[in-house]
Amino acid sequence: MKRGAKHAVMPRRALAEGRDRPPMLENRMGKLRLDMNENLLGCSSRVRKALRRLDAKTLSMYPEKETAIARLSPWFGVHADEMLVVGGIDEALRLIADAYIERGRSVLLVEPTFPMYRFYAEQRDARIRTLRYDREMRFPLRDVLRALKRGPSVFFLANPNNPTGNLLDARTLGTILNAAARTLIVVDEAYFEFSGVTVLPQIRRRRNLVVTRTFSKAAGLAGLRVGCVFAHRDVARVLRRAQAPFPVGAAALAAAEAALKDRAFVRLAVREIREGRAILQRGLSRQGARVFPSGANFVLVDFGVRGTAIVAALERRDILIRDQASSFERTGFVRITIGTVKQMRSFLSVLETLL
Ligand SMILES: Cc1ncc(COP(=O)(O)O)c(C=O)c1O
Repeated sequence: MKRGAKHAVMPRRALAEGRDRPPMLENRMGKLRLDMNENLLGCSSRVRKALRRLDAKTLSMYPEKETAIARLSPWFGVHADEMLVVGGIDEALRLIADAYIERGRSVLLVEPTFPMYRFYAEQRDARIRTLRYDREMRFPLRDVLRALKRGPSVFFLANPNNPTGNLLDARTLGTILNAAARTLIVVDEAYFEFSGVTVLPQIRRRRNLVVTRTFSKAAGLAGLRVGCVFAHRDVARVLRRAQAPFPVGAAALAAAEAALKDRAFVRLAVREIREGRAILQRGLSRQGARVFPSGANFVLVDFGVRGTAIVAALERRDILIRDQASSFERTGFVRITIGTVKQMRSFLSVLETLL
């Protein structure tokens, strides 16, 4: 027996036996990063100015998140008590899981989707009920409505969805919300700025809805870890109880406010990325790959049997894209983040030499 082994303390079963967290991808600096849906245009210069202005007093104080919420909430058209600030949507998902998933209760997912939903549900020892997008990446609405009748505690739904890219319209979301009598519907709008579809205005009249947003994508602040949660004030109050007192640092709060004040940056980034997306979609189709429609800053592509080899060949050229073979249980599917128009053109020309 190894020394000290008799004192080994067992962690909770979900951690002792659970699947590993999705892989941490590092050493990406200096490469063409088309693998994590970040903003390749960077961030607003107003954000960088706000960060430079942070003084020693601000940095030495614990951050005041409720003061920040009072300043941020009007930008979203909500009251301060309908909003939380979080350390990215990742933290929001943990809060929701902690507050609304009792051990052994069920959680509904339509996979493939953002893997952290499953991760946090497993952490809470939830039973996971999984439906799937079909081969055309269509959302299984009828099956979802049927599954909701059984009253799962939470349904996590990314809209647009990652990695499929597909977007549900407001009417379909309304149908889902109306069918969820006993289920908290979490509509994750991480990519809202690219799609323009939102259910945010509905939080005031629905106690079964939580909306999440992030500054990691269109605003280009993934490195700072900041996002927001919106819900009916009764739901927001419960989520606040589950939150640590200082989850978002002062730099991230200042950056979030500066980002909201610079709408021109987000408009410009969204325009460039939409153009880049159209160029990439046309180019990939011309090269014989199947490209799925996307409402976000990435596209799902099916390269068939060549998929995994293409990912590896691009990586050797310092171009990172995300292999989705394990999400779809077959090789071929990859997810490509949209960068600038120039980056998309040069990506296509490298790809052409590989094909
Ligand atoms: C659907 C979805 N939600 C949330 C996130 C993570 O957001 P954040 O950086 O705010 O934690 C991602 C990131 O890829 C995502 O695709």
